[in-house]
Amino acid sequence: MRIVMIGAGYVGLVSGACFADFGHNVICVDKDAQRLDALRNGRMPIFEPGLDVLVEENSEQGRLGFTDNLIEAVSQADIVFIAVGTPSRRGDGYADLSYVYGAAREIAAAMSGFTVIVTKSTVPVGTGDEVERIVAETNPKAEFAVVSNPEFLREGSAIEDFKRPDRIVIGTDNEKARKLMEEVYRPLYLNASPILHMNRRTAELTKYAANAFLAMKITFINEMADLCEQVGADIQDVSRGMGMDQRIGAKFLHAGPGYGGSCFPKDTLALVKTAQDADSPTRLIEATVSVNEQRKRAMARKVIRAVGGKVRGKTIGILGLTFKPNTDDMRESPAISIIQTLVDKGAEIKAYDPEGMDQAKPLLPPNVKYCKTPYEVAEEASALVIVTEWNVFRSLDLDRLKTVMASPVLVDLRNIYRPEQVRQAGFTYACIGRGDRGLLDAPEAARAAE
Ligand code: UDX
Repeated sequence: MRIVMIGAGYVGLVSGACFADFGHNVICVDKDAQRLDALRNGRMPIFEPGLDVLVEENSEQGRLGFTDNLIEAVSQADIVFIAVGTPSRRGDGYADLSYVYGAAREIAAAMSGFTVIVTKSTVPVGTGDEVERIVAETNPKAEFAVVSNPEFLREGSAIEDFKRPDRIVIGTDNEKARKLMEEVYRPLYLNASPILHMNRRTAELTKYAANAFLAMKITFINEMADLCEQVGADIQDVSRGMGMDQRIGAKFLHAGPGYGGSCFPKDTLALVKTAQDADSPTRLIEATVSVNEQRKRAMARKVIRAVGGKVRGKTIGILGLTFKPNTDDMRESPAISIIQTLVDKGAEIKAYDPEGMDQAKPLLPPNVKYCKTPYEVAEEASALVIVTEWNVFRSLDLDRLKTVMASPVLVDLRNIYRPEQVRQAGFTYACIGRGDRGLLDAPEAARAAE
């Protein structure tokens, strides 16, 4: 099976390397010469656990290659995956499909013989129809089928997710394409992964429905956490109590500073737009989008309350910048809004992240000071704020931190510490949805407002 992957970004690279590992012949096509050069020399353009080894091994075995020559690669392919970006279009929230349609045109001009074109990028319902139209228009003689095969990979565990998926979704009514897709995923039959066949529009929507539901689930638990703070309840116990109901499920019930990343924010927005245009508004998702957006700034206000109501002239230490651990991805990270709001209120910011600092620099205010360790961040800080739950932040030496900080305040936006432990160490502790702190916050906030 000869597979071509258009786009050696996150999805294309992980999928390409995994397909090669299944034993297929894979060529990844990208326009970025620097990226290709790095990949050919075993340097990964993104941080993803296990990816470097997978790329190296499969390149050495001759199953995985990188090129900018789309025409040559596509002309020999049985299947061409489109894995280019579909970012939010500036200003209106629609998915920007120009890269997908551009790829479709180039593929159409280059293909020969029956070729299956697969959209792996997350694309709104109906995009497959438009790809089909573009290909037929560009190359009227082309023999082809267009399939939707959305990915459900989580950054940080993408390879594991690819090789042991909960399900694979394949959207096509074309019998020949369906057989070829089954061939591509054959190794996954062996570990009993369910392969769901459906029509193309349904497959496209399934991806958005899954992501929007997860975003809504997180937003639900975040609102419950806020309520816990007001009424003296504990969100960790509420989550456990809910999650054990198998109809609900325990995952994605961890309260935090709001979801971020390359998928949830853009996909929820795009779904809202699709639904509005179809006269079938998804009001739950509209609410999810706005609640999550407001939450990030509310987290900055939580920090300000924890240091007594004012941050002007104070140093605030930020631990964790990426939208979640085990990635260097900063896209839509809550850290961006939190830091901007604190800077607007006059705070000085020091920050540390194990992998994300290079990516963070262009997105954060220029005067943020980047440190080499959490302890360096703590020096002279009036509060330390855990924004991302990297493992290295789970067992900090609290006594050591206390000796170097201007005041011992820990704001734990991921609930990775036990409140008693932090308070015993002599810290003021603010966290998410764990009752008594919420109640203690209220009079403090009132005092600060006076
Ligand atoms: C997500 C989907 O999980 C994946 O299926 C899809 O293909 C792409 O988008 P990813 O963006 O890598 O994957 O991150 P994920 O682990 O899902 O987390 C998204 C955000 O939600 C992060 O900001 C994370 O911190 C937050 N989150 C997640 C919570 O706040 N609480 C939770 O319980 C789970």
